[in-house]
Amino acid sequence: MLFKTEGERILIKSVSDMDMIIGMQNVGIRYGQGAEILSDINMALKRGSFHFLTGKSGAGKTSLLSMMYLSQKASRGIVKIFGRNVTYTDRDSLALLRRKIGVVFQDFRLLDHMSAFDNVALPLRVCGMDEREVRKRVTELLQWVELDKKIKEPASTLSGGEKQRVAIARAVINRPEILLADEPTGNVDSDIAHKLMKLFVELNKLGTTVVIATHSEKLITDFPFPRLHLQNRGLKIYRPIIEDNTVKGGIHE
Ligand SMILES: Nc1ncnc2c1ncn2[C@@H]1O[C@H](COP(=O)(O)OP(=O)(O)OP(=O)(O)O)[C@@H](O)[C@H]1O
Ligand SMILES: [Mg+2]
Repeated sequence: MLFKTEGERILIKSVSDMDMIIGMQNVGIRYGQGAEILSDINMALKRGSFHFLTGKSGAGKTSLLSMMYLSQKASRGIVKIFGRNVTYTDRDSLALLRRKIGVVFQDFRLLDHMSAFDNVALPLRVCGMDEREVRKRVTELLQWVELDKKIKEPASTLSGGEKQRVAIARAVINRPEILLADEPTGNVDSDIAHKLMKLFVELNKLGTTVVIATHSEKLITDFPFPRLHLQNRGLKIYRPIIEDNTVKGGIHE
């Protein structure tokens, strides 16, 4: 068991905030003066939910995730994260909210000169965690993602799949309230992809809300979670239909 529940963490919030952790209302996004790449996006993701995010290359998955991660502002509409309208939230408050979100970037964004260990330790050290506890947690997680032999290696020397696993470990080490992962299994073989998915599922069982962008049909059928699907600048939500323990398709919500 890599993650333990935190019994002491009690959140006092209004009922609506408790229910919805990521909300979008008539959201549009454009870059510069270009046309909108996403239009009229509406969603209300519940706290503790697990969604895949799909759509062909260029459909806007990374753009949608970057709005959820608060690094990209919507061009119009309302975005609510942790029950808070983030449209007019100042930079410092956004940075604090972001600490509760773990993110796996499509291009990893590791600190190249630092070791695998130090990259993963970063979120814990930022919170001022005792160094002995940092060592224990980081070592255990890097072992689990099968990188124990690379712990001391600088990130720049790792393979694509190894970098991806370091990025994942860094995103989950702090048991974030939201985990956003952009193609987190795109560079690893299918055995490791399944193992990483199990890590996300375990984290989700402990309460983390998870959104995973993927092109992998195999993951989508092996793990029957609802799917946010981007197409023609819009969003559809599909819920899987399960028969005989296998996913048979989906219904559009
Ligand atoms: N910084 C940017 N400036 C201008 N256009 C951008 C920028 N980022 C993304 N775009 C455009 O927005 C559209 C959606 O891009 P996005 O990266 O969100 O797609 P994606 O679904 O993540 O694609 P992929 O599956 O290839 O990662 C694309 O047409 C892209 O060219
Ligand atoms: Mg992308």
